Amino acid sequence: MRTLVADHPLIAHKLTALRDQRTDSPTFRRLADELVTLLAYEATRDVRTTVVDVVTPVAHARGLRLARPRPLVVPVLRAGLGMLEGMCRLLPTAEVGFLGLVRDEETLVPTTYASRLPESLSGRQVYVLDPMLATGGTLTAAIELLIARGADQVTAICLLAAPEGLAFVESRFGDSAVPVSVVTAGVDERLNEHGYIVPGLGDAGDRLYGTTGTP
Ligand code: URA
Repeated sequence: MRTLVADHPLIAHKLTALRDQRTDSPTFRRLADELVTLLAYEATRDVRTTVVDVVTPVAHARGLRLARPRPLVVPVLRAGLGMLEGMCRLLPTAEVGFLGLVRDEETLVPTTYASRLPESLSGRQVYVLDPMLATGGTLTAAIELLIARGADQVTAICLLAAPEGLAFVESRFGDSAVPVSVVTAGVDERLNEHGYIVPGLGDAGDRLYGTTGTP
């Protein structure tokens, strides 16, 4: 498994502002959006392309365009939705699927409550959006589901990761035949006893939407 911690002063600047508890929801949403676009730039370095010829006003030129089938972007509901616009800004032609996974706050075990994906993901590069890679349980469940549908490359984009979560995802996909990558803006110290990343930024869904998410 490939883990890329994006190292750029603009990424660090936006992440620091996201962490700040004084940052309100509208500002948090804007910063998360901008941060995802920067992370997406790193995450799509190996997006598949095909060679094309175009005619400029001056001459013929050889270039690249995104290959078919189109990449699939999958935000994990609910907090992953706050990353969708930022991702689609960079990949406007990507197809978008949705996965709803919720973790039990006591057992931390994730269950799927919504899935809207193409029937087959054969030959598809998939970009999963999940802001907080904490225990890794939710992300692992999402990646397993995508691989079971035939995805042949999965890249997770996370605003923040915990070492425990990265180790868990690595333990599941370290020698997977399907390449799995994690791209993140930072790896924090640890998880606390409630499964929150420390120092982290709190509950990403609540900070994005200003609600508790209780049904
Ligand atoms: N989910 C969050 O929103 N925050 C954390 O710190 C961990 C999981």
